[in-house]
Amino acid sequence: MTANSHDAEHQRLIDQSVEIARLAGSLAHEIKNPLSVILMNMDLLAEDLAEGSTPRERRALTKVSTVRSQCKRLQNLLDDFLNFARAVKLELKPTNLNDVVSEVLDFVDSQMQEAGVEVIRHLASDLPSVLVDRQKIQAAILNLLLNAQQAMPEGGQLWVRTRETPQSVALDLIDTGSGIDDETLLHIFEPFYSTKASGSGLGLPTTRRIIEGHNGAISVQSKPGHGTQFTLEFPLPARIGGSERPAGGA
Ligand SMILES: Nc1ncnc2c1ncn2[C@@H]1O[C@H](COP(=O)(O)OP(=O)(O)OP(=O)(O)O)[C@@H](O)[C@H]1O
Ligand SMILES: [Mg+2]
Repeated sequence: MTANSHDAEHQRLIDQSVEIARLAGSLAHEIKNPLSVILMNMDLLAEDLAEGSTPRERRALTKVSTVRSQCKRLQNLLDDFLNFARAVKLELKPTNLNDVVSEVLDFVDSQMQEAGVEVIRHLASDLPSVLVDRQKIQAAILNLLLNAQQAMPEGGQLWVRTRETPQSVALDLIDTGSGIDDETLLHIFEPFYSTKASGSGLGLPTTRRIIEGHNGAISVQSKPGHGTQFTLEFPLPARIGGSERPAGGA
């Protein structure tokens, strides 16, 4: 293939996947409307049946409850999917990663305590600013924190460390959970891949899209039975635009 026809083929594939993503997004959206009508009617039916006292009405109520909880599950799945399929539009601002990390950790603090997870913070002082979309990064980190917690059903430790590297600011999240075997590791970033009974499998793919949207990188190392380390890296601004590091950077 010549360079030109190769470029054209590449562009055609990009256009095609954008179109498929758009279709999938509108399909998900179209399913949500009738689903919410079904759910509303199930709620009304449950109210009616709750007033009845015959065994038959009680049996019917149990069935309606099952349908309701499955509808809710589908609603959550569609929300997660729409969140994943939506183009990532970033509002980048010079930010100290420590602030973002602290905010998410405060948010999950009581949940972690409840789950018996001890969170150990090692936040580097004098961290240079990086250009990030605060909300998107918080969502990305939250996915990783929840995964870590879910990997430690009996509790454990979660180390949260920020550090500066020559080209980036990095965040390590190290848990003492179940770990991930090599076969599973191959799939964890695939949409809808989950080893959990009620997982949508969109947490890590969404996180990766957000991080890569920042020109950053996400990597993982794991030892089954011992734990897992996820590392996020954000490029220093000087490396992206060739501009000076913002004031306040070390
Ligand atoms: N810290 C971790 N320790 C062990 N396994 C993990 C960890 N993080 C992710 N995994 C594995 O990667 C899989 C995919 O994770 P992902 O967050 O994408 O989906 P999920 O957690 O299963 O579902 P969802 O996040 O949508 O509720 C998980 O099902 C789990 O097997
Ligand atoms: Mg998850």
